[in-house]
Amino acid sequence: MTLILNRSEVASILNMKDCMTVVEQAFRELAEGTAVLPLRTAITPPEGISLYMPAYLKQMGALACKVVTVYKNNPVKHNLPTTIGKVLLQDPETGNVICIMDGGYLTAVRTGAASGVATRYLARKDNGQIAGIFGAGVQARMQLWAVSEARKLSKAYVYDVSEEAVKKFIEEMGPKLDLEIIAASSADEMMKADILVTATSSASPIFDGNKVREGSHINGIGSHSPGARELDTAIVKRSKFVGDSYEACFKEAGDIMIPVNAGEIPKEHFYAELGELITGKKPGRLHNSEITLFKSNGLAIQDTATAKLVYEKAVAADIGMNVEI
Ligand SMILES: NC(=O)c1ccc[n+]([C@@H]2O[C@H](COP(=O)([O-])OP(=O)(O)OC[C@H]3O[C@@H](n4cnc5c(N)ncnc54)[C@H](O)[C@@H]3O)[C@@H](O)[C@H]2O)c1
Repeated sequence: MTLILNRSEVASILNMKDCMTVVEQAFRELAEGTAVLPLRTAITPPEGISLYMPAYLKQMGALACKVVTVYKNNPVKHNLPTTIGKVLLQDPETGNVICIMDGGYLTAVRTGAASGVATRYLARKDNGQIAGIFGAGVQARMQLWAVSEARKLSKAYVYDVSEEAVKKFIEEMGPKLDLEIIAASSADEMMKADILVTATSSASPIFDGNKVREGSHINGIGSHSPGARELDTAIVKRSKFVGDSYEACFKEAGDIMIPVNAGEIPKEHFYAELGELITGKKPGRLHNSEITLFKSNGLAIQDTATAKLVYEKAVAADIGMNVEI
């Protein structure tokens, strides 16, 4: 039998705290060499891009593949979202697909979880810090949730080029997180924050990196192609740079590839992978005035660990529909 889980079923059982626990474990496995993580395969039919993201986590006993597509004309042409994803979870003992679940909500939560874990290892430890979220879309919501799991926040700022998006974000996330969220009127106003997140669809830098205050931590999660970046050279240069994966950063992240290729920053500026902080191979933040930066491209190990968690919770709560395929 294969268990089928739709988006609302996944959302009803997946929370950030538990997701951060398994995502941290997945990054640990990556650093310890017990994760199998091929780079994602991309196929580009005329209308969009289709990505295949498999991973195997030996210690966790998790094997899965996410299929995610980005079709920009979907909303207008087919009344479907731009990004659609499904995860196939397998039993590593038999190879059998034991669960097919919606991957949209799962992707946003697992992306938030990686930033939450990075924030735990890299942000200053003091309570009452202020978060600043660039972007008020799907990912941005989960980013704020994750940052508020990692640190006790006093309030948050949100900035988006769409005022309507900001309004909806505040209406939804303020009560959900029981947090004061303020609409910032400019990117400069966001510099009041201690923990910044960039979660926009912008392909060019969204703030002036010279204006970031000492002691800040930044999670950069938006852009992930060699020619696109949300972060300018100044902030990358000023930061201790931690990536989710060295390989992914130098294949997909314009944020570091553009300044490195221009000769403005040496490749060695890449300080560590997140897993190396988790295993203690390298220290995270060393002092309170350091600026730390986590660049996330999104790895299949995050999806695989999260899918296993969702499956186990669904089975325990008797949620979903079993079908014979
Ligand atoms: N790192 C990962 O693992 C990961 C995972 C999923 C998505 N993403 C990426 O995250 C980004 C956001 O995805 P989403 O699903 O939230 O998209 P979305 O369309 O829901 O939200 C993006 C928001 O960014 C805003 N925006 C665009 N340019 C801006 C600017 N210059 N300043 C402020 N706001 C700006 C848009 O108005 C929009 O509200 C995309 O680039 C997506 O590919 C990354």
